[in-house]
Amino acid sequence: MARSYIIVIASEKGGVGKTTLATNLAIYLKGLAEDLPVTLFSFDNHFTVDQMFCLSKTVNSQHVGQLFTGSNPTDLLCDGQYGVNFIQSSRTLSEYQQQIKDVKQLAQIIGKSQLQGLVIIDTSPTLDIYTRNALYAADRIIVPIKDAPSLENCRNLADFLVQHKRSKTALKLLPCLIDTRIHFDGPFRNSYQLLKAYAINRGYRCFEGFIAKSPKVESLSTNPEGKIYPVITHGRNTDVHIQLTHLARQVYLDYLEYGPVRLSEVANDLFDQKEHTLQEYKSRVNNLQPTCLCCNTPIPENGVWSNAYFLENETGSFSGFIEEDCFLELLLQDCYPELKGKEQQKLLQEILIGSTGKTFLLLQKSQISSEQAKIDLFRLDRQGEKISGRTIVLKKRGRFQLKGKGSLLQLFNSATSKQTEQFQQLLVRQVDTNPLDLLRHHDYLEWKTVFNRIQVDQKLDTEVE
Ligand SMILES: Nc1ncnc2c1ncn2[C@@H]1O[C@H](COP(=O)(O)OP(=O)(O)O)[C@@H](O)[C@H]1O
Ligand SMILES: [Mg+2]
Repeated sequence: MARSYIIVIASEKGGVGKTTLATNLAIYLKGLAEDLPVTLFSFDNHFTVDQMFCLSKTVNSQHVGQLFTGSNPTDLLCDGQYGVNFIQSSRTLSEYQQQIKDVKQLAQIIGKSQLQGLVIIDTSPTLDIYTRNALYAADRIIVPIKDAPSLENCRNLADFLVQHKRSKTALKLLPCLIDTRIHFDGPFRNSYQLLKAYAINRGYRCFEGFIAKSPKVESLSTNPEGKIYPVITHGRNTDVHIQLTHLARQVYLDYLEYGPVRLSEVANDLFDQKEHTLQEYKSRVNNLQPTCLCCNTPIPENGVWSNAYFLENETGSFSGFIEEDCFLELLLQDCYPELKGKEQQKLLQEILIGSTGKTFLLLQKSQISSEQAKIDLFRLDRQGEKISGRTIVLKKRGRFQLKGKGSLLQLFNSATSKQTEQFQQLLVRQVDTNPLDLLRHHDYLEWKTVFNRIQVDQKLDTEVE
């Protein structure tokens, strides 16, 4: 389990000094905590990190996109200058985007790895899936603000945290690229003081101090050698050097005070979620009726019959299995009474077996009178779209009841505690080789989506009426 402290530099505004900050901060932090591994990578598609830290011209083909394709993060590390490890940047990050399922992935990947120490992540000026993954994993998010618009942009970062049940206090703002030559009249004498006051007024935390705009610092990325030089080696006589030293000290003190907690938090959430999912599955299994819903044969101890149908009512309070023969007989008797000959019945059975494997069936009952009920039978595709349907009227007692077995009406009656209900529906699905898999999280969600879709359609229909 990784014990890394993740520092993310983020702002939706470009040109506020994110990359300059991320790269230089890595070096200043390494200087403060020599024994602590410091790792840096960027989700932006320029190569500042590589140009500043690469030790030799021979580069390998590994890059930051591979964090999401199953590579172990520690295998992607390159030894860089100034004692900083880095992962090479990638020009083709957009190609890997499809593989990223959600915002939790990076936290889980680093959490499972052996990556230790401080991990600094530079991001692009968008809230794309890479930035969101970084924000989700971050112990500390540093947001450079250089003017009022970049301060306004912080709101999206704060909203993201709130959306993911995280405290806004993970964010800490830092006025950057401050032109110290500009002075204002009034209580806030320069843009640093003004920005800081705005930020605090909006409920954000700020670092002490700022990073000044310095022509010397700006020149460090443009030189005949095609290198990008850090402030610590080539700008030592600037104010920015002192300001970065002060900033690194604050970031390091935060690390010492709070420690790396975010990755364990994510891992614990995931564990709780898995546990919750397992409990839900178990309660669905416990809720199953113990016998075939039609002929009352007990479900075998060693598992459900593989030729069977799964049936559930709207609320999920009633669910169980029906043996295939029983269900087909039930449908033939109640829904297709006109099919008399054995040959015709066999044909229909084959059609039903063939089609229900790929589709769901929806049975709706509307009570017409105390003696009569209307049944609508629909075939649905896996998105809940109706493919075909038929309507029949059933009498309470009569020739449609199977001898010794149930009837559709009885099935509806067992499925609800409120027998007087005017309108009821049951959803039926043919089971696969392992019937209980249907109750597992993903399959069950697919199943529930169909039910939700039906309910939305019905609501729309009633609104149109
Ligand atoms: N303290 C500074 N003083 C002067 N120029 C700076 C300073 N920090 C960054 N810059 C320059 O500002 C530009 C944008 O910085 P950069 O770090 O690339 O921002 P971002 O990553 O937010 O787009 C670059 O040309 C960089 O050299
Ligand atoms: Mg950048």
